[in-house]
Amino acid sequence: MPDLFSPFTLKDVTLRNRIVMSPMTMYRSTDGKMSDFHIMLMGSRAAGGFGLVFPEQIAILPEGRTSTGCAGIYDDAQMEGLSRVAAIIKDMGAVPAIQLGHTGRKGSEKKPWHGKTQLAPDDPDGWQLKAPSPISYGGRYTYPVQELTVDEIQDIHRAYARAAQRALDCGFEWLEMHFAHGYLGASFFSPLANQRTDAYGGSVENRLRFHREAFDAVRAVWPERLPLTMRLGSDDFNEAGTQFDDAVWAVGQMKQHGLDLADISLGLNTDAMKDVPFTEIAFMVDRAARVRREVGIPVGVSWNLGIPAVADRVIREQLVDLVFLGRPALANPHWPVWAARELAHNDPFSLIPEDWHWWIRSRPGPDGSLGWPAVAGGRSSG
Ligand SMILES: Cc1cc2nc3c(=O)[nH]c(=O)nc-3n(C[C@H](O)[C@H](O)[C@H](O)COP(=O)(O)O)c2cc1C
Repeated sequence: MPDLFSPFTLKDVTLRNRIVMSPMTMYRSTDGKMSDFHIMLMGSRAAGGFGLVFPEQIAILPEGRTSTGCAGIYDDAQMEGLSRVAAIIKDMGAVPAIQLGHTGRKGSEKKPWHGKTQLAPDDPDGWQLKAPSPISYGGRYTYPVQELTVDEIQDIHRAYARAAQRALDCGFEWLEMHFAHGYLGASFFSPLANQRTDAYGGSVENRLRFHREAFDAVRAVWPERLPLTMRLGSDDFNEAGTQFDDAVWAVGQMKQHGLDLADISLGLNTDAMKDVPFTEIAFMVDRAARVRREVGIPVGVSWNLGIPAVADRVIREQLVDLVFLGRPALANPHWPVWAARELAHNDPFSLIPEDWHWWIRSRPGPDGSLGWPAVAGGRSSG
């Protein structure tokens, strides 16, 4: 039976454990480039024991960023920073993953701590939003949205393929397509945002066309030996939006197109959500487990899984294959070591690189003197 610390193999890639640093947009880029900040952030989490480490959603086009402070992969000049991020993650023993995305009608944002609203298209840091249909997100996001033409959709698919090639050249070994959280992929799938009458709208089959085509474009350049996964906005928690049953069907379709793993997340296509248990522990796990069971595909999931015993249980009970941690990964660079100690793992420091753990294990000092409280007992990682 696997546990949180068991290795996980997908295609030719093996993760040292089941703990993933979930993608998180940090609004810290200039001209879409990654810098020393990102090397520090991702390097420290890889050194802290995470098995798979994602930087933030990386935009395939400039207008696919969340803000002008967000990272992209649409220009060769962005490859140096991304390559350094991938290299440090790998050097620290984790697998470097990249999440490719386009924000659609949720782009052109201010930095959240400057007010969670959008900037006007003529603002120096703003742009004209485009999406499946000319419907703005609403609430805080009010600027007019233009409908994408079919030619523009095809340009986006070509941008996905170029981005995937660059990601490969930068050294990433795991590629996730971001089709969740109200961004472009999520909005094509949701009837709340997609009211097209052409081949990209209407039936659920048509609303998945954007994803299938983007996926096929990426698969054509991304090697079969490396995992290709997606994060899907599986539920809008709104009667008129994405329904979870449709998402289960969609994962099955994408599996036929070569999907290797599904990361089951929220639609977030509207603020008008009903009964989302945002404060409940592990509230998306049942949905991910249903996808795993019914589609027969490995799954990952995030949302409130930062309690070690919970993260371990959802793996042991084989509800999910990977645990994605967002806020806990920001809060504690050594979350895996901490979790291993909480779970009485027999050798928590074995999770960090050998050239560090050698010193800690061979020069342990008096109990409690290493900056971690003393641990009682121990069990094998199994
Ligand atoms: C600061 C921040 C930025 C985020 N940016 C992204 C992103 O770029 N892509 C994405 O798929 N999810 C993003 N998320 C969502 C997280 O990846 C994760 O799914 C979510 O926080 C739930 O997991 P948690 O309960 O462990 O925090 C972000 C979350 C936070 C807190």
